[in-house]
Amino acid sequence: MARVYIEELSHHAGSRVTLKGWLAGKRSSGKIHFLQVRDGTGVCQCVASLADLGADRFAAADHMGQETSLEATGIVREDKRAPGGFELTLKSIEIVSPASDYPITPKDHGVAFLLDNRHLWIRSSRQHAILRVRSEVESACRDFFHERGFVLFDAPILTPTSCEGTTNLFELDYFGERKAYLTQSGQLYAEAGALAFGKVYCFGPTFRAEKSKTRRHLTEFWMVEPEVAYCDLDGDMELAEQFVSYIVGRVLERRGAELKTLERDTTKLQAAAQLPYPRMSYDEAIERLKKKGVAVDWGDDFGGDEETALSEEFDRPVMVHRYPTACKAFYMKQDPARADVALCVDMLAPEGHGEIIGGGQREDDYETLRSKITSHGLPLAPFEWYLDLRRYGSVPHAGFGMGIERMTGWLCGIHHIRETVPFPRMMERLEP
Ligand code: 4AD
Ligand code: MG
Repeated sequence: MARVYIEELSHHAGSRVTLKGWLAGKRSSGKIHFLQVRDGTGVCQCVASLADLGADRFAAADHMGQETSLEATGIVREDKRAPGGFELTLKSIEIVSPASDYPITPKDHGVAFLLDNRHLWIRSSRQHAILRVRSEVESACRDFFHERGFVLFDAPILTPTSCEGTTNLFELDYFGERKAYLTQSGQLYAEAGALAFGKVYCFGPTFRAEKSKTRRHLTEFWMVEPEVAYCDLDGDMELAEQFVSYIVGRVLERRGAELKTLERDTTKLQAAAQLPYPRMSYDEAIERLKKKGVAVDWGDDFGGDEETALSEEFDRPVMVHRYPTACKAFYMKQDPARADVALCVDMLAPEGHGEIIGGGQREDDYETLRSKITSHGLPLAPFEWYLDLRRYGSVPHAGFGMGIERMTGWLCGIHHIRETVPFPRMMERLEP
């Protein structure tokens, strides 16, 4: 018997096939049982009748618990009313492993309960749709860079130093001899890669011991970070807008069904697939915020509220560049025209989804970088290798980092990014 996936049913109309999956739900009219079978690629209604199944199997079909694993064999029938346009007239059904008292029932559950049962929650249609969008985002990231000749340059996860400041480092004991830290960003290593390969990207998990319990912060998140030699801030912003619009276009094109499941208003995403994205300086952002009555002063870093207020005015992401040097990390290059601002950029997503990208041009002058490391209170010794990149053939270079969870959260239109990763890690959650 041909085993087929539910997403391929349209190629098998009229044929006898076997589905291998799990029971997502069922209802019965007494004479006929309707079994909703899911196999990871979709859900198919299987219609069970006494005549087709025989008395024993027909009775068993009515007593299977939710999430029983099963193999269902039957004839594929086109039916416009069915979810995927096809259903199965059951001829036989085999239970692979029974299940009873599945904890996640169709009734409403609290989010703490659902997170405790995350290993099962990911089977439900909404979570399933979000994680498929995430998977598409990640594959679009890889395709974008490979189509443009970037080399994938994996950065280490165990590091001897901080990248984004020392306040949110996870520290661990390294063989009782020294401290090591979980990486906050692969950037410093990607810079070495860019000077070796011209253009690279790294893509992996990053860690922040963030005490902030906001809807945009996880303690472990995935970041994709391109880094390009002979690139300045303008080039970096062009790359960032091309990258994000490519991902948006790709998700709209290939994940329409998932966005529909999520009831995402996709008209709000169409503009973000178009170029260019608006740009504005931090100075201008401050003016705009003041006009809107937001209490900010020049020199303040932006939080979620300021980001939301700024992005409200645009139908696509906006890039805010040249933040005060004092708000930003040690590696940022100062604007040669103005020492008080850095050649950096944050991209803010529409609809209040906040900062999805942070990046900019790197300090490429040896002496300046050396004094920045010291003035940020960091030790020089662990950064000697990084300073070597300025000793031997330094060039202007730039890059950025995009958080996969924030990007996915915006595309899916969901409130808290904890649902955009299979097993979220937050201050108050390490399980399951
Ligand atoms: O702005 P961030 O901290 O920039 C960097 O780490 C740079 N070294 C990147 C680079 O230039 N190569 O972080 C970049 C992005 C943010 O815009 C956001 O999307 C995401 O990473 N991010 C987080 N996502 C979830 N939870 C957190 N705690 C995050 N912190 C940053
Ligand atoms: Mg940032």
